[in-house]
Amino acid sequence: MGLRKDFLWGGALAAHQVEGGWDQGGKGMSVADVMTAGDNVTHAPRRITDGVLPGENYPNHEAVDFYHHYKEDIALFAEMGFRALRTSIQWTRIFPEGDETTPNEEGIAFYNDLIDTCLSHGIEPVITLQHFEMPWGLVKKYNGFMDKHVIDYFCRFASVCFERFGDRVKYWMTINEINNQAAQPIAHHMLQEGGVLIQDGDPKAEEMMYQSAINELIASAKAVQIGHAMNPDLMIGCMIANEPLYGATCKPEDMLEMEKANQKRYWMLDVHARGYVPAFVEKLWARKGYQIDLSDAERRVLAAGTVDYIGWSYYMSQAVAWREANTDFDFYELEDIVDNPYVKKSDWGWPIDPLGIRYGLNWMEDRYHLPQFIVENGLGAYDKVEPDGSIDDQYRIDYLRAHIAKMIEAVDEDGVDLLGYTMWAPIDIVSASTGEMDKRYGFVYVNKNNAGEGDLSRSRKKSFYWYKKVIATNGEDLA
Ligand code: BG6
Repeated sequence: MGLRKDFLWGGALAAHQVEGGWDQGGKGMSVADVMTAGDNVTHAPRRITDGVLPGENYPNHEAVDFYHHYKEDIALFAEMGFRALRTSIQWTRIFPEGDETTPNEEGIAFYNDLIDTCLSHGIEPVITLQHFEMPWGLVKKYNGFMDKHVIDYFCRFASVCFERFGDRVKYWMTINEINNQAAQPIAHHMLQEGGVLIQDGDPKAEEMMYQSAINELIASAKAVQIGHAMNPDLMIGCMIANEPLYGATCKPEDMLEMEKANQKRYWMLDVHARGYVPAFVEKLWARKGYQIDLSDAERRVLAAGTVDYIGWSYYMSQAVAWREANTDFDFYELEDIVDNPYVKKSDWGWPIDPLGIRYGLNWMEDRYHLPQFIVENGLGAYDKVEPDGSIDDQYRIDYLRAHIAKMIEAVDEDGVDLLGYTMWAPIDIVSASTGEMDKRYGFVYVNKNNAGEGDLSRSRKKSFYWYKKVIATNGEDLA
């Protein structure tokens, strides 16, 4: 009973949310570099500016300066006993504009050292190729994945990563939370996942989302084939935002709406895992008159590039209700998700549902029969530093304990094949949705606030010691 002996306990980061050094080491500008900060008080959203403009606040430019602190930070992760560290390789450190023919050796040297530092501590690096980090050059020249040329640029980037790092990195993921854009075609998400610039409310938005997503999936499938051709032992997965969906009631319409919502949120995973576009998507394209450019040769690429495992993030479940006007049961997150009275919410309004992680693991197993890897799970919260410098983040321990307990039940009682758990995020980071520093996730506190004040020093929170014990006992002692 219990988790496998080599269970990959650890933490997960995204390069743009920690590294900083946005214009150092030959790095080019990425989509993360043109996003301003929003906040949780006025609910002002992050804005996308046309390039980097004077007088704007771009929180990812410095982030928590992992670019210069990675050795110290990885040593702290090692102190907790990490067996795995997930992070991404910023495309713009390797290809600054995105369409160069030769890579930037300074960027490669940085990641070589980062990977070697992990390995010197016995930490397995787990790499995401594209975590909201599309080169701004590709956005401006091609509108990101709307253009098929970008598939080739992504493959060139992936090839360099597999060639240069594949001797030491076994676990890979292609595109982070590719399905976030599926049911809410809003500007922020289409830029993050596909590098596509679009106005909110553009009537072509959904059709564009399908075209961009198809091109992303082709790029992912090609990358899987490139990686396997170089080394068949590489484990190349996808990365899905898993928000298990519940029907708001047992009313038949709510249940069908929930099923249609699952189809719409997870069809990209169907392509990643099964290698073909499911019939309900083809029907939706036909019904709405969408002209999606997907050739027979590209369909064969999708079939030949299925993933080895499913990586997914878990923060919340959602409840879905049917609206009477919604005669074709088409799902849109902003309209069809309703409050679930049975779960609490975080300070940022995110539902907290530990049982949902077990439900999600079972749902994935039943639908895909592939190994799974929980590559993100955590609580964004306000932390208070006491006068003696300590941080009593019991709420974070409670959150993680409850989720890990349900995760272990899914392995122990339901037989789910689970490779590991990399908690998000072991050190405080810049929030992806709001750009805030004060939405803290870490076991390690970083002295920097929303206003950018602080000396970036690191300190251990109470949860640091708790997680160390969890890993040391392979999840048996969660107290
Ligand atoms: C996931 C992303 O959506 O959730 C991360 O992969 C992100 O990049 C995480 O940071 C938590 O979201 P947020 O908005 O609180 O940072």
